[in-house]
Amino acid sequence: MTVRIAVVNGKGGAGKTTVVLLLAGELALKDKTVLLVDVDSGRNLALWWSAAEAQSNLPANISVIYATHQDALEKTLLTADDFDYVIFDTPGMGIPLTASLLHHVDIVITPVQPTLKEIEGAIWAAQVTGDATDETGRTIRTLVLRTRITLTGRSTNAYRQIRPWARNARKAGFDIHLLQSELMERAAYKELYNGAGTLQIMPLTEPVKKARLEVQHLLDEVTLWLENPDQALELEATREAEIEARILGPKGTNAVLTADLNKARPFHER
Ligand SMILES: Nc1ncnc2c1ncn2[C@@H]1O[C@H](COP(=O)(O)OP(=O)(O)O)[C@@H](O)[C@H]1O
Ligand SMILES: [Mg+2]
Repeated sequence: MTVRIAVVNGKGGAGKTTVVLLLAGELALKDKTVLLVDVDSGRNLALWWSAAEAQSNLPANISVIYATHQDALEKTLLTADDFDYVIFDTPGMGIPLTASLLHHVDIVITPVQPTLKEIEGAIWAAQVTGDATDETGRTIRTLVLRTRITLTGRSTNAYRQIRPWARNARKAGFDIHLLQSELMERAAYKELYNGAGTLQIMPLTEPVKKARLEVQHLLDEVTLWLENPDQALELEATREAEIEARILGPKGTNAVLTADLNKARPFHER
């Protein structure tokens, strides 16, 4: 059966097309046929394709089609079942076409960089995915993927806010889940737009190997959410409980410590 994935974030430059290409390359390598649907009139997939073609780097098993209007999208959906995977690359703004396309997908991936603007774009993605779930009666999950991560980026407030934001959205009823996998900021990912084709056909240098492992991990995690969501939910619950325990300290000792501190005399009285 065809698996349909949409990559959505209501803001431009979130890293959507990059994620589409990374997943497509990995699937193609596993001999899966992949149809990439470019729903973005910016046509970055077209640019990617022609740059790869110019350097004889077109990968096997991947096809690209454009569907930037409702009727083209509907026609595309009719032929999509011939492929193992269909991945929709959507525009970086909240448009009705993206919202209606979500009626036809199994899962949504929303890439976020650690900035508040990106988190807002992901909120939009979660909302339209929630609407699609209500309107179709099917479970369509949103998987949040942190991307373009750097070591300094990891210590920003925006980065730290991503997990609690996803948790709160989940508590508020959204079927939204933070992926453990992250995509680091990597030069190898930038090469995708420079005619290199897919990451998976690039010469296997050390940096490419690291990137490949990262993408394999991401695909494994997405596949688990698609094929065995109960297990994915269980793993998530265990992880969240562990994180909560770490924040509170063993048996809530941090809470005790705070209470003790409150009892302590103010500094100036000592
Ligand atoms: N993980 C990453 N590492 C390095 N560069 C990235 C990464 N993700 C995206 N980029 C770069 O950021 C820019 C925007 O990414 P893109 O995938 O085109 O975003 P979108 O499709 O959401 O507009 C591109 O120049 C791309 O090469
Ligand atoms: Mg794009």
